[in-house]
Formats: sequence, C-alpha cells, structure tokens
Amino acid sequence: MDSAEPPRLRCPDCGKAVGPLVGQPSCQGCGRRFVAEGGVWELLPASRETVKVNEDQAHVEAGLPTWRRLFMHKRYWLEWCDTDWLPTILDQRTRSFLEIGGGLCYASALAKAKTPGAYVTATDVSPLYLRHHAVNVGRVLGAAADTYAAADAEALPFEDGQFDAVYSQVVLYRLPDPGRALREIWRVLAAGGRYLGIERASPWAAVWRAREARAMRARAIQHGVGERAIRYREWEAILHSCGFGAESLSPVAGRRVRAPWLRRLGNAARPIYVAIRLTR
Ligand SMILES: C[S@@+](CC[C@H](N)C(=O)[O-])C[C@H]1O[C@@H](n2cnc3c(N)ncnc32)[C@H](O)[C@@H]1O
Ligand SMILES: [Zn+2]
Repeated sequence: MDSAEPPRLRCPDCGKAVGPLVGQPSCQGCGRRFVAEGGVWELLPASRETVKVNEDQAHVEAGLPTWRRLFMHKRYWLEWCDTDWLPTILDQRTRSFLEIGGGLCYASALAKAKTPGAYVTATDVSPLYLRHHAVNVGRVLGAAADTYAAADAEALPFEDGQFDAVYSQVVLYRLPDPGRALREIWRVLAAGGRYLGIERASPWAAVWRAREARAMRARAIQHGVGERAIRYREWEAILHSCGFGAESLSPVAGRRVRAPWLRRLGNAARPIYVAIRLTR
C-alpha cells in the first residue's frame, strides 16, 4: 500500500474478494453483509470450531475492568511489546499493521502511537472481548487502532499481500492448527512485510513438561479452549511443515540470561518465550 488505507476484505465464508473495509460492504459471492457493532466489525466465518466459539467467553471472567487487566496483569508485557518487540517490525515506512489474537489489543495501540501514519487493524476471535476491553484500551493509551475486527487467525478475512507488519503475542499455542495460521499470515503479508509472533515454549525435560502440560490441559478443559503445551522442537517442526527454516525461530532474550543457548538449556525446566520471525 502506498498510503494508509483500510484493509481489503476477503469473505470469510466463500473466499471472494469484497473490497475495502468501509461503509457497508457485502460479498458478491455469497451475499453476506458485513457490519460493525459497538465499534467492532464481525468478520468471523459463519461456522467455526467449538474451541473458537468458547474463546469468546473465556476471558470475560470476574468482570475485571479494562485498566486493571492492562496495568496489573499485562504491565510487563506492555513494556516488552513497546520497547523490545514492536520496534523490530515497525518503521516510518510502515503503512499497514495487523494484530492477530490481540485480546486487549494494546500492541495495536502502541503500534498506532509509534507509526501514526500507518493504518492499524486490531483483531481477535472474541468480539465480546474487543467490544468490552480493546476499544477502551485504545482510549486509555491515547492511540486507538483504526479498525477493530473479530477475525479467526486460521481463516484471515483479508485479501493477499497487503500488510507491512503483522504481530501476534501468545496466540498460536491455543489454535487447533498453528501452521494454518502461519500460512495465512504469510498470505496476507505484503512483499518485504514482516511478521513477529511471540510464543511460549514449554519445558523440554519430561518431568517438567508433563507438569506444565497437565496444568494447561486442565485450564483448556475448564474453559473449553484449545490451549496446549508446545515445546521448542515442536515449534520448529510446525514452522518446517509450513516451509520456514530453523532461522525463523529463536529464544527471546531474558533480562538476566541473554545467550540463546543458555535460554534453551534453562528451558529444560521452565517455559521460555520464543520469537517467530518471517519476512516476505
Ligand atoms: C493468551 S491471550 C493473548 C492476548 C494478547 N495477545 C496479549 O498478549 O495480551 C490469547 C488470545 O488469542 C485469542 N484467540 C484464540 N483463538 C483465536 C483464533 N482462532 N483467532 C484469533 N484469536 C484467537 C483469544 O481470544 C485471546 O485474546
Ligand atoms: Zn462470501
């Protein structure tokens, strides 16, 4: 894209190109009309897996207000995202930014603050969470995304090759098929576009791995979602199955332990965060 403009939509039901996400677009293929409710576009496929439907309720627990979620639960993430991660995919030439599985979507707000000239699209599979919290986060951080939309990471409702930067943070590990989402991300990246995904790599030593896998399985069952433990080697295999090499995966440097090999060693007993980087 030359100038900042809304993303071009691809129908999540029939796959036909719909055009820019403005006004009241409708699909010439299946007739579906696209609407925004409470400031959030509904772009989910009409039919989707139960785990994805359940995600809509999974984060609404305890009625915590937006500010508390943001500044109590996510305060370190806000800082890392702002200072360490986003700057590696954004610069002053960035005209279009897409966040996937954004939840509160503070990454989108931070991206908008860094690159006001870019068109920022914030998405998550949960329209409820977007309406209740993400839209508020834009106000609290003083830089709202240009568009909020409910979208499935595994069936992105956007035409090919249009985003300069795509970002996701701890999202792929709860998808039925993370490889499918990576192929979708690759499809929507513009030439030269960059993707950064921050994910969790579970411990690789059997006893610690089993402990974490049990805890995650219990949470997944409780909320009816697809969350599961994925080890470093499994991330490598997922990337490999999509045609991406081992260089696309690396441990995120810790505050105390920076060396990648030491992080991998420590990953025997404790989870670490990993960065998935793709450049189209
Ligand atoms: C652990 S939260 C992370 C939220 C946010 N990225 C952050 O780091 O604060 C995982 C998010 O992924 C979203 N999610 C789960 N399945 C998804 C899917 N199929 N497509 C898009 N987002 C999804 C959830 O709704 C939730 O907001
Ligand atoms: Zn259609």
